[in-house]
Amino acid sequence: MSMEATDKRRDLAMVAKRVAACTDCQLARGRTNAVPGEGNAEADIVFIGEGPGFYEDQQGRPFVGASGKFLDELLASIGLDRKRVYIANVVKCRPPQNRDPQPDEIAACRKHLDDQLGVIEPKVIVTLGRHSMQRYFPGEAISRVHGQPRRKDGVIVVPMYHPAAALHQGNLRRVIEADFRRLPDFLARVLEARKAAPAAGEPPIPAHLRAEANTPPATPPPPAEPESQQMRLL
Ligand code: URA
Repeated sequence: MSMEATDKRRDLAMVAKRVAACTDCQLARGRTNAVPGEGNAEADIVFIGEGPGFYEDQQGRPFVGASGKFLDELLASIGLDRKRVYIANVVKCRPPQNRDPQPDEIAACRKHLDDQLGVIEPKVIVTLGRHSMQRYFPGEAISRVHGQPRRKDGVIVVPMYHPAAALHQGNLRRVIEADFRRLPDFLARVLEARKAAPAAGEPPIPAHLRAEANTPPATPPPPAEPESQQMRLL
């Protein structure tokens, strides 16, 4: 049986406390604030970015700078906002000069993200950028797999470009926008499949979500539902 919302909120607050006190890697030394993550403890979708930047470090909140503004726009484009989803990062403290997080830092921080996902139990995880993609699909190239949902450990994971990359490379903007537009349909199908097989352990993965990298789905997904329908399904 899944946890009550209040239990989930309490458990996420406990993770946030552990994150705030964590000194398990060198990033702790340079932080102004740790950035555990924020959003709905019962979210169906969790977005995982890379790590806090300057503004996130100042405010202790994820995605509040330029890429956060774009992420908000992308969410709004599919009828969502931050209150409906959960947003986290693979590292919870800002890497100096916004450099890439190092493997040992990602490894040291992994338990916090594992704990958050264990509490929320999302139906769909969207990785933003290659560092969070590598958590699920090590060695994959984001240019090859972006936008393609795959099951990993019982959850549907959809790798996407990082919003910051899309902001800096104009052609990627249209790509990430198109990948986002397909999200409500993925989620609706996952929820439908769960409803159809509630007690069967692993819910069956819907046919067109059984995407192998580079293999187009056997049946193309139906056209996107009108926005009101998308919002109802989410
Ligand atoms: N980029 C990220 O990956 N995460 C943030 O929280 C902000 C910018």
